[in-house]
Amino acid sequence: MSNYVSINSQISSFKKKIFVPSDKSLSIRCALMAAAAIGKSRLKLLDSEDIKSTINCLRKLGIKIIKREDYYQIEGRGINGFKYKKNLVLDCGNSGTLLRLLPSLLVKSPYKIKLIGDKSLSKRNIRVKDPLSNFGAQFSKNKTPPIFIQGTDYVRPIFWKEIKGSAQIKSSVIITGALHAPGITRIVAKPSRRTTENLFKHVLKIPIKVLKKKNYDHIEVVGRKQFKSFNYNVPGDMSSAAYPLVLTLLSKKSQILIKNVNVCPTRIGIITILRKMGATKKYIKLKNLRFIKGERIADIMVKSCNSLKGINIPTKLNSFAIDEMLLLFLCSIKSKNLSYYKSISELNAKESPRLKIASKILSMMGVKNISTKNSIKIFGDPKLNLGNKKIEIKNYMKDHRIFMMAFIAANIFSGSWKIHDKDSINTSFPNFLNLMKILGAKTL
Ligand code: S3P
Repeated sequence: MSNYVSINSQISSFKKKIFVPSDKSLSIRCALMAAAAIGKSRLKLLDSEDIKSTINCLRKLGIKIIKREDYYQIEGRGINGFKYKKNLVLDCGNSGTLLRLLPSLLVKSPYKIKLIGDKSLSKRNIRVKDPLSNFGAQFSKNKTPPIFIQGTDYVRPIFWKEIKGSAQIKSSVIITGALHAPGITRIVAKPSRRTTENLFKHVLKIPIKVLKKKNYDHIEVVGRKQFKSFNYNVPGDMSSAAYPLVLTLLSKKSQILIKNVNVCPTRIGIITILRKMGATKKYIKLKNLRFIKGERIADIMVKSCNSLKGINIPTKLNSFAIDEMLLLFLCSIKSKNLSYYKSISELNAKESPRLKIASKILSMMGVKNISTKNSIKIFGDPKLNLGNKKIEIKNYMKDHRIFMMAFIAANIFSGSWKIHDKDSINTSFPNFLNLMKILGAKTL
């Protein structure tokens, strides 16, 4: 079967109610923590390649996991309860989150464990070598997979300052400190999604202090208490909801209700930015707000908006919109004036060098843009219509978010698109194309 989609017509107006798949960040954390808990956890998780990689790694570590129709049962063996033989190889597939968080469960491993990943992940820095080495773990020299990790019997608590706004690095320190280090581990972290903190506090009941100061969160965990299994029905992923959200916003006379999405304030940078660009509450509304297990959940109502304006994006929102940036670029095309995104070099450290590739795609579309390693200026062209201009998207490291961004662009700006590597969606949003079909998107 061909692994590309061809699109040559804009989407017509639609009015729909949909659900999106479960939150990826939360699903990976739940699976990892369930493996270190005591007893059986029952988890309704995202069903995607990144989660399958997580489950496979945990099974190789001796954790019994049963997959039922719509949930996983994970039989946790407690902290340091893994059972495995020498020369273990753990394959993190395409998942950066798994590569950064799994080592936190291995810092006491008596044998060397080899961490590997796919082509894209093998180019990405593991990023947690420095903090985990401070805890006492040992790593092979290289920074990208394959990497060997070997644990220590003498894990010590650390102080760590996280200045990138990376939730993965922050979470790696929180989990390692809480699970393995006797005493208090302190983290001062530039704000990023607080998924781990919420899970600790409201679900796992692992003591954690979070003090939100002006520019940094001050976090403390006290190490080494066993914790019990838990059940979790993981809500919808804001990062996946962002695709139908932007499709609706930029389409003509359309409306959508996206049900049951995790709208934790640290996950909705895209909405905060769009509001500043003119998509007021009339166009994007959080309805039926409720708190479940410490996460803020809502149904997101979106209506088409043809009055967006470009802005200078406040850098403090970058971390809260990092996975949705490509979609914001499309909104900037549909905006009057110039949009300016700064301090976004992190985008080039994702599944592909996203900033570089997005700038290329915009240029292929004929959108004037000026990009550096760290920023992009996008000159809005609200009336842009590509007619039957041919655009082919390929060689982008099979980055799921590039595929989905290009698909949305094709449905908004017309053109005759051929987008390769459609199976990339299996990383985070396996039913993306089915859902787009339900909304009325046509592929050839
Ligand atoms: C994630 C954090 C973000 C995000 C990634 C998932 C997480 O990465 O881009 O898709 O689950 O913590 P960084 O923490 O590297 O910014």
